[in-house]
Amino acid sequence: MTMSTSHSPLYESTLKSLPLLGRGKVRDNYAVGTDKLLIVTTDRLSAFDVIMGEPIPNKGRVLNQMADFWFAKLSHIVPNHNTGIDPATVVAADEADQVKGRAVVVKRLEPILVEAVVRGYLAGSGWKDYQATASVCGVQLPPGLKNAEKLPEPIFTPAAKAEMGHHDENITYDEMERRIGTELSATIRAISIKLYKEAAEYAATRGIIIADTKFEFGLDTRGELFLMDEVLTADSSRFWPADGYQVGTNPPSFDKQFVRDWLETQSWGKTPPAPKLPDDVIAKTAEKYEEALQRLTGQSLA
Ligand SMILES: Nc1ncnc2c1ncn2[C@@H]1O[C@H](COP(=O)(O)OP(=O)(O)O)[C@@H](O)[C@H]1O
Ligand SMILES: [Mg+2]
Repeated sequence: MTMSTSHSPLYESTLKSLPLLGRGKVRDNYAVGTDKLLIVTTDRLSAFDVIMGEPIPNKGRVLNQMADFWFAKLSHIVPNHNTGIDPATVVAADEADQVKGRAVVVKRLEPILVEAVVRGYLAGSGWKDYQATASVCGVQLPPGLKNAEKLPEPIFTPAAKAEMGHHDENITYDEMERRIGTELSATIRAISIKLYKEAAEYAATRGIIIADTKFEFGLDTRGELFLMDEVLTADSSRFWPADGYQVGTNPPSFDKQFVRDWLETQSWGKTPPAPKLPDDVIAKTAEKYEEALQRLTGQSLA
């Protein structure tokens, strides 16, 4: 695999030409006029909801390209926040390097504060939950399922979007209805399952299993629903190579499992500051992200 080297890592953007609205764990958001945002995907990596101190080279560009790929592929199911405006045209000329290949100009939406998680397989916290309760986030499942097993049908397990610095919290579907209403909840659930099914079916043709994923939605000023944030990236999803998949074992994955596994060998409380990532863990992680892009989309990093 060829790794691009012509771009320097970007840990934090420093655009002066637009007002900074805030920095998320991975993305920096700027206002473009009153109705749009510039979202810059940096090379920051968060694991266990803690931001690592070192950038992962090319990670932001990989994620940006992956999300673009899926937004285009799935746009027939639900409209998304992309505007198609070239990010370089909304910043100063000497800032173009910071946005090239890693930013999007999007419709500024009113975020729905419920994350739409869809699970097609038992994994991670879902597997733990199932062992303890025979259900995942309140969704009853048949008995006898094993770790990493495919579920009879994909399930929808919403989470409340946490304030900065807090962990997202699983909520029941009933709680989601209480928070955002029955109609909007039903629409989001149906769309999310549809998005997951189509994406998973496509990914299977590329030798990749999408074990689970998370979508975010927002409303425009007229109340129309849009898919926003990032979609089906290695950060928002659990990708497993189909060839290493075996029910009953923890499949190796293309996402940040590599860093997570390393972090589990360190003694730290999973609170900031994170231990300093060794160079080989950084390099291997960068490679994993790029491999996921190539395997899934057939595209090299642009
Ligand atoms: N079109 C949009 N309109 C408004 N907010 C958005 C839009 N797309 C994404 N966002 C928000 O921008 C932020 C992206 O930064 P990110 O690093 O993912 O943050 P977080 O740490 O909350 O995951 C998220 O809070 C996401 O909900
Ligand atoms: Mg996010």
